[in-house]
Amino acid sequence: MSTELVCQPIAGTWLSGLAKMMAENPEFAEAYDALLGAVRLARPDASGGSVLVTSAKPGEGKTTVSSCLAIAASLAGRRALLIDGDLRRLSLSAAVGSADTSGLIEVLLGQGSAADVIRPFSLTDPPSANVVSFMAGGRRSSASLAAVDWGQARSIFKAISQQFGIVVVDSPPVLAANDALLFASIVDSVVLVVGAGANISEVQRAKEQLEAIGARNIGAILNRFEPKLHGRSNQPYRGYYRRTRA
Ligand SMILES: Nc1ncnc2c1ncn2[C@@H]1O[C@H](COP(=O)(O)OP(=O)(O)OP(=O)(O)O)[C@@H](O)[C@H]1O
Ligand SMILES: [Mg+2]
Repeated sequence: MSTELVCQPIAGTWLSGLAKMMAENPEFAEAYDALLGAVRLARPDASGGSVLVTSAKPGEGKTTVSSCLAIAASLAGRRALLIDGDLRRLSLSAAVGSADTSGLIEVLLGQGSAADVIRPFSLTDPPSANVVSFMAGGRRSSASLAAVDWGQARSIFKAISQQFGIVVVDSPPVLAANDALLFASIVDSVVLVVGAGANISEVQRAKEQLEAIGARNIGAILNRFEPKLHGRSNQPYRGYYRRTRA
């Protein structure tokens, strides 16, 4: 199976907007570089690392974090594949304008090839060679996950992952649906996004559910932290961050 990208990159306003924010905010960029480093350390191979981004509850920042992680990887020179694994909301697919295309679910069901559904999205507008490859969630609903042969899906997913430097999968919340646990069983590692102010016992429950299926949870990301609201900032370190992004 080949996922060589032969089509022209599309200007993705969601992705290019986040890339622009990252370029303008060194602390933002540094935080994602640190996350990228943690994912890399969890699997030091040169390629084939896949990470599921999930959370306990809705709205904690999974879609934003998964997009930014894929962008950071691309900016660091790695071939990055971003996958919409939230088949219930398809927020990522909608954000890049691919809500009604085949994608992950068809690939996992063996009804489509990765090469046919992966599209390159430019991180700049107008488009340039700096891209994040994207796989939409797909046309079928999450109910189709019941028909997936997960042993076969794992092999398919591994073959896709080996063609990229990093594969980042967005997902629904762990406590809301079983989907994230299913996807956790086919990726190399899992990152839990925790919105500032989240209920810690719910986060703990999500962590335990991931551990129960043997997922490799490499840590949590504290998202939407407001220094004035939630505590101290990292102001004393401000001078250490690079000023602009190349
Ligand atoms: N660090 C952040 N700072 C400010 N706003 C943020 C941050 N992270 C996410 N948001 C905003 O919070 C909202 C929810 O984020 P996002 O869609 O990424 O969460 P989610 O966990 O994917 O939600 P869902 O469970 O509904 O899929 C969005 O409007 C997003 O722009
Ligand atoms: Mg989301």
